[in-house]
Amino acid sequence: MAHQILQGKRGIIFGALDERSIAWKTALACVEAGAQIVLTNAPIAMRMGKINELAKQCNAQVIPADATSMEDLENLFTKSIEVLGGKIDFVLHSIGMSPNVRKAIPYTETNYDNFHKTLDISALSLHRVLQTAMKLDALNEWSSVVGLSYIAAQRTFPGYNDMADAKALMESIARSFGYSYGLKKKVRVNTISQSPTITTAGSGVSGFDAFYHYAEKMSPLGNATGEDCANYCVSLFSDYTRMVTMQNLFHDGGYSMTGVSDQVIEEIMKNATKE
Ligand SMILES: NC(=O)c1ccc[n+]([C@@H]2O[C@H](COP(=O)([O-])OP(=O)(O)OC[C@H]3O[C@@H](n4cnc5c(N)ncnc54)[C@H](O)[C@@H]3O)[C@@H](O)[C@H]2O)c1
Repeated sequence: MAHQILQGKRGIIFGALDERSIAWKTALACVEAGAQIVLTNAPIAMRMGKINELAKQCNAQVIPADATSMEDLENLFTKSIEVLGGKIDFVLHSIGMSPNVRKAIPYTETNYDNFHKTLDISALSLHRVLQTAMKLDALNEWSSVVGLSYIAAQRTFPGYNDMADAKALMESIARSFGYSYGLKKKVRVNTISQSPTITTAGSGVSGFDAFYHYAEKMSPLGNATGEDCANYCVSLFSDYTRMVTMQNLFHDGGYSMTGVSDQVIEEIMKNATKE
């Protein structure tokens, strides 16, 4: 039984598509830690995914919302407060989609309509969520909002395409909005920069398997799993991290601080001696 560090807290979890989703694992971890939650996803994803299965396990209501629609987001926050019986204490933004990645259009030949969609869905949606919450005064003081990011926001990973730009923008929105929301209501906003994780969104990126194995060999602790990420989210939603805001927090087994590892050197030398 988990420590009940979210006892009495109410949360909204975006982005649980199937049991591999980081949001799925986070929803379960939050409920295990004592929280009451509402689950949400884009209406189209509801038809494809299995969110109702998760809702049963979490004793949670599902309220559909396209994260690019202000109307949907207003409805989501208003209904969540009704369903949960009070204002919200935490929000997980676990949303990412790039039509350019889906259609395998190379970064240098980008389609700009697609690019706009990538930015709107994967980055501006965090701004929309925060703006809606602020306008409706839907969050309690010391609430915690977390978005999920990837190190391609800082360094180039060929194949991550326009999602890299979206992540850089999302991390910046977390800082900028975090400043204003902190001043106004002591709401904290952070992003977690997670290791490559095998999920629907993750595996859609070209070369994902190579990213995954490379990161595993580079990280002294190995890749952080989806379950590890869920636990980190729980800690960030709890009162134990109440002074953490406007941060991009690397959750990657040490990958981001490792120049090269013994394992990677060995592999390269093995191949070099074969040549
Ligand atoms: N998997 C990885 O390797 C990895 C690594 C670092 C960060 N992340 C990030 O973690 C987050 C969650 O991804 P995941 O890996 O769990 O994959 P996932 O595919 O399970 O989750 C992505 C979710 O985004 C939702 N979504 C897409 N368009 C939406 C819209 N318009 N409105 C509302 N929701 C929408 C999808 O329905 C889906 O549930 C994403 O932001 C992703 O970029 C993933």
